Amino acid sequence: MALATTRESQLLKQKIESRTARIGIIGLGYVGLPLTLLFSEERFPVTGFDVDQKKVAALNSGGSYIVRIPGTEIQAAQRNGFRATAQYAEIAQMDVVIICVPTPLTEFHEPDLSYIRNTAQAIAPHLRAGQLIILESTTYPGTTEEVLIPILENNNQLSLKAARGAEGDGFYVAFSPEREDPGNDTVARRDLPKVIGGAGPVALELASAVYSTIFNRTIPVSTPATAEMTKLLENIYRCVNIALVNELKQLCQRMDIDIFEVIDAAKTKPFGFQAFYPGPGLGGHCIPIDPFYLSWKAKQFDFHTRFIELAGEVNTAMPYYVIEQTTAALNEQAKALKNSKVLVLGMAYKRDVDDLRESPSLTIIELLRKRGAIVSYNDPFFPYVGQGRHYHLDMHCAPLDDLGQYDCVLIVTDHSDYDYVRIVREAKLVVDTRNATKGISSAKIVRC
Ligand SMILES: NC(=O)c1ccc[n+]([C@@H]2O[C@H](COP(=O)([O-])OP(=O)(O)OC[C@H]3O[C@@H](n4cnc5c(N)ncnc54)[C@H](O)[C@@H]3O)[C@@H](O)[C@H]2O)c1
Repeated sequence: MALATTRESQLLKQKIESRTARIGIIGLGYVGLPLTLLFSEERFPVTGFDVDQKKVAALNSGGSYIVRIPGTEIQAAQRNGFRATAQYAEIAQMDVVIICVPTPLTEFHEPDLSYIRNTAQAIAPHLRAGQLIILESTTYPGTTEEVLIPILENNNQLSLKAARGAEGDGFYVAFSPEREDPGNDTVARRDLPKVIGGAGPVALELASAVYSTIFNRTIPVSTPATAEMTKLLENIYRCVNIALVNELKQLCQRMDIDIFEVIDAAKTKPFGFQAFYPGPGLGGHCIPIDPFYLSWKAKQFDFHTRFIELAGEVNTAMPYYVIEQTTAALNEQAKALKNSKVLVLGMAYKRDVDDLRESPSLTIIELLRKRGAIVSYNDPFFPYVGQGRHYHLDMHCAPLDDLGQYDCVLIVTDHSDYDYVRIVREAKLVVDTRNATKGISSAKIVRC
């Protein structure tokens, strides 16, 4: 039964169905830009909002700053009416506003909601009745109801309230988590089921109508907090399982068993097992960060999230384990880590992506340098790595032409373009944290 019975909600539904609803996407990064393109492909008029003027300028001149999104896709979107802006006043013209801004951690490992708060403050003065506001940023359960809605309600000039029932003159709010997996082309974006929690049944109905235009399946849940928790469960599940195999990898190494062979055998079980792979440590904007959003919130309920803490402990220790293994491998060759030349292969946090955020390579390079190693790196996605929130490297990408000059080539990111046979042939020693050299037999390889 249709619940959208007020004039505003019926009008919005009609606009969505006729693809005339104006969609505003706030935050044109790894999540917001692909979402923009999906709506644009459906011929919705889309406006992108970002505080980064360089991104706005790049998009408006038909360019892209994300490697896997070619400029031609931005230009096609422009032909369908897409443009980018830094002017929040244009929010007033939007029918649907989707927020995709960052949700990092503070230096004390607590949720940093400043981007969501700033965005809500910036939207509020331009709110009008009948607009649908959707939050996609990953966050702790309660953010939509306890943070977003109060800021919108308390800072708009028309005294508008979030419409939870059939009342007419409010705005609608929903939360719908993003499930983007950069670099994973096995599932088309449209085939990712979209979980949606509305602040009230009409908001849910409208948000479902919007997302049904670009996703093949929507999964309605009862509240925004349920949708917020769903996203965290998905990422905590990954984080905990990765910690499990990271720990078992260390045990297997002592027992002289190949953990990757074990996982490959275990995953032949047709039920009850999902393969996760060990590595040099967690990276990316999600898995190392999101679980701490929940452990922080849990404290409000006098609850200690032990699995999250333990997984965090194991995973953050992995770069130190890599250093230990590299030191031991050099020791076998009668060399000290101090003054050894080490080439780190791969800076990105995972294979074939141009994303450095929280990459274990950054920690590993800093640890190697602290211990006196002479470090270079190679990564086709990063010609230069300067300064970030938690690192200061100032390094240029080294060519891959004279691998014999290094005492050790340390594989941290297994980009598919690397020729691992050549790398093993030319290097003096290869420490492989990703099983990238699987199938290559050589005494020079140390897998860890
Ligand atoms: N990257 C992923 O794979 C992924 C997957 C699932 C969920 N998420 C979640 O999605 C959210 C966005 O992540 P992302 O990877 O796209 O981040 P990002 O850093 O790539 O992009 C965020 C964009 O928001 C812009 N921005 C910041 N403050 C703003 C403001 N006040 N107004 C307008 N624009 C603003 C930034 O300039 C940037 O362009 C995060 O909560 C993240 O946890 C990300």
